[in-house]
Amino acid sequence: MSKELKVGIIGMGAIGKVHADAYQNVEGIEIAALCDALPDRLREHGERLGVAARFTDYRELLKSDIDAVSICVGNALHREVSIAALETGKHILLEKPMAMNAAEATDIKEAGERYGKVVQVGMVRRQATEAQIVRGMVERGLFGDIYHMRTVLIRRRGIPGLGGWFTTRAESGGGPMIDLGVHYFDAAMYVSGLWNPTHVSAKTYAKFGRDMRSYRYTSMWAGPPKFDGVSDVEDYSTGFIRFGDKATMSFEIAWAANTCEESFIEILGDKAGTRIFGSTPMTLWTEHDDRPADITHKYADLGKPFHAQARKFAAACRGEEKPAATAAEGVTVMKTIDAVYASSESNREIEIS
Ligand SMILES: NC(=O)c1ccc[n+]([C@@H]2O[C@H](COP(=O)([O-])OP(=O)(O)OC[C@H]3O[C@@H](n4cnc5c(N)ncnc54)[C@H](O)[C@@H]3O)[C@@H](O)[C@H]2O)c1
Repeated sequence: MSKELKVGIIGMGAIGKVHADAYQNVEGIEIAALCDALPDRLREHGERLGVAARFTDYRELLKSDIDAVSICVGNALHREVSIAALETGKHILLEKPMAMNAAEATDIKEAGERYGKVVQVGMVRRQATEAQIVRGMVERGLFGDIYHMRTVLIRRRGIPGLGGWFTTRAESGGGPMIDLGVHYFDAAMYVSGLWNPTHVSAKTYAKFGRDMRSYRYTSMWAGPPKFDGVSDVEDYSTGFIRFGDKATMSFEIAWAANTCEESFIEILGDKAGTRIFGSTPMTLWTEHDDRPADITHKYADLGKPFHAQARKFAAACRGEEKPAATAAEGVTVMKTIDAVYASSESNREIEIS
């Protein structure tokens, strides 16, 4: 086997821990350095993982003898930290969203090309078993001509970290569209192979989180609320995307709404349709023996998506594979999200350039 890949992790919060766990489970990777701005958090994870090289300043970590870094800090730091890492010759596995907007994402993509380093975007949902299986079916033509997708992810009361960075536009770039929509847009485009979004007509709403003290909920990821913080992002978005004149996608993405919780990406082709990320086993709606037929697939789990992401990142760093989610794809997703917000603000359809 090729030499051990030495990786660093910048940001040891909720997702940094998940990256560390994934790296520990992939052969040929050594976690060689850690960084977090909070010294206590850094010490705790350093001791737990047995990593002695610990830094509170990411620029110091980038001076150490490592091949690659996971970038797991908040969205507003993605561009700055990514470009600094690429400049110092490190491959990067960059958490989603790729950046605050498409302009920043493009800067990162171009830096990757300039320094000849791997930029893999942390679009982990496409590593899920159903997404991988359906992608294979699409490649084999089982769906025929894919002409429409429905993308839905609705939480009843799921605003994360109310008042913290999630709900502060200057730190996050937006609400559920950039936090969750980014995963579902990426997975829909990946599975269908439709990477040419051309027009977006959308509307976003903020009906629950703006007045923080009146928000009623049962649990809160990254809580409790910080009532002295900021909540200035949307909590619901809906819209319609055209992929040239041949295919379309409707979407609804919400942190909070007065309806039942729902999640799926539905793909409609002229030979078959299906849903992934839904609450029922993946079923092909198709025809068989001259009749409409529902075929429910039996399949083995392909394993943990974060482990698959880490394994593919290591292979890309060694030059064995292309990154599991490329910078170019990340830029396309960010352009689509920019267009959602621009369409909502201007109340008109936006053409993606
Ligand atoms: N792939 C997924 O499913 C998924 C899930 C959650 C979060 N994320 C993404 O991961 C990123 C981080 O989210 P999180 O929920 O882990 O946030 P978090 O707040 O839990 O963790 C961020 C960490 O970065 C540290 N930090 C902040 N500024 C720093 C700096 N200048 N230098 C070093 N460390 C610094 C913080 O102390 C904190 O420990 C976000 O971009 C988020 O969108 C992805």
